[in-house]
Amino acid sequence: MLSIKMFCYKVFQLTILLLQLTDVNCQFTLSALSLQHPTSSVGSNATATCNVTYTGSTTTTLTWKINDVSVQIYQIENGQIPLQASPPASGYDTLPSTTTSIVNTSDTFPMNLEIRNVNLTLNQANVTLSCPAPNCIQKVNLQIGVCQPITGNGVIATVSSSPCGFGCTVQYSCASGYTKNDVTATCQEDATFNTIPICTLSLRSKPLSDGAIAGIVIGCIIVVAIIIVVLIALFCKQICCCAFTILCLSWGTKEYTAGRS
Ligand SMILES: *[C@@H]1O[C@H](CO)[C@@H](O)[C@H](O)[C@H]1NC(C)=O
Ligand SMILES: *[C@@H]1O[C@H](CO)[C@@H](O)[C@H](O)[C@H]1NC(C)=O
Ligand SMILES: *[C@@H]1O[C@H](CO)[C@@H](O)[C@H](O)[C@H]1NC(C)=O
Ligand SMILES: *[C@@H]1O[C@H](CO)[C@@H](O)[C@H](O)[C@H]1NC(C)=O
Ligand SMILES: *[C@@H]1O[C@H](CO)[C@@H](O)[C@H](O)[C@H]1NC(C)=O
Repeated sequence: MLSIKMFCYKVFQLTILLLQLTDVNCQFTLSALSLQHPTSSVGSNATATCNVTYTGSTTTTLTWKINDVSVQIYQIENGQIPLQASPPASGYDTLPSTTTSIVNTSDTFPMNLEIRNVNLTLNQANVTLSCPAPNCIQKVNLQIGVCQPITGNGVIATVSSSPCGFGCTVQYSCASGYTKNDVTATCQEDATFNTIPICTLSLRSKPLSDGAIAGIVIGCIIVVAIIIVVLIALFCKQICCCAFTILCLSWGTKEYTAGRS
């Protein structure tokens, strides 16, 4: 009886110890990483942000990685300003940023990683922020793209560079037969243009054939004729009836008179 009680107590102690160890290991609560733009244009800077809550009390590190390559490391210590370790040589042009205030246990602060001058080889790359404990990691998938110039529907596009990355311009004009709306569109950081061209088919500038003109004239005459007939039927009923009555009566009188005589 006593030994069972003792056993249970030991199990309980062990559980507490394990929980404490886990707690010591995981010193952060990391929010999901968010990107400044869902898609970044080639040549722009892509920025990932995380809200970090420091739940621990001992010194530990936070590491930014691109595809498992460490690019930036910060040392976090209770009561200290986050300390940036000299970045490892990674080949990536990155810049981290975080609070410049003292961080105490249970403080929340944002951490950023700016990846400069992104290119298409970074498309779908995994960007992670992690601490040394297991499962202490957040990941986001980079989306790198280019602006797609609009063509067709009378739009003529002259692109300044191909592929059309950040800052690339497109001179739009309209083909003949379309109303002019010449615009210059610039590719923005989010891989979209700041303006779109609209070329509308112009009726006036398109000369009509003789057959088309004849068709339109005949059509108009038919429509006018129908309108007249309808109007007569609706509004001139009385007048017409009156006219017919007079006519009929006069004929009738004549016939009647003729019959009697
Ligand atoms: C990207 O970062 C570099 C260096 O800080 C800066 O010169 C450049 O203007 C930035 N580009 C954009 C699109 O903000
Ligand atoms: C971080 O927190 C701020 C303020 O609560 C919020 O506006 C922002 O969206 C958060 N960012 C992330 C990446 O969760
Ligand atoms: C793309 O960027 C990576 C890392 O910044 C660089 O190593 C690579 O040479 C670049 N590729 C091209 C085609 O510019
Ligand atoms: C952390 O604590 C110190 C003093 O203990 C205080 O000066 C500082 O403002 C605190 N930091 C934050 C972010 O609250
Ligand atoms: C990114 O992570 C996903 C899933 O975790 C993996 O399938 C993919 O291969 C990774 N991409 C790179 C470039 O490492």
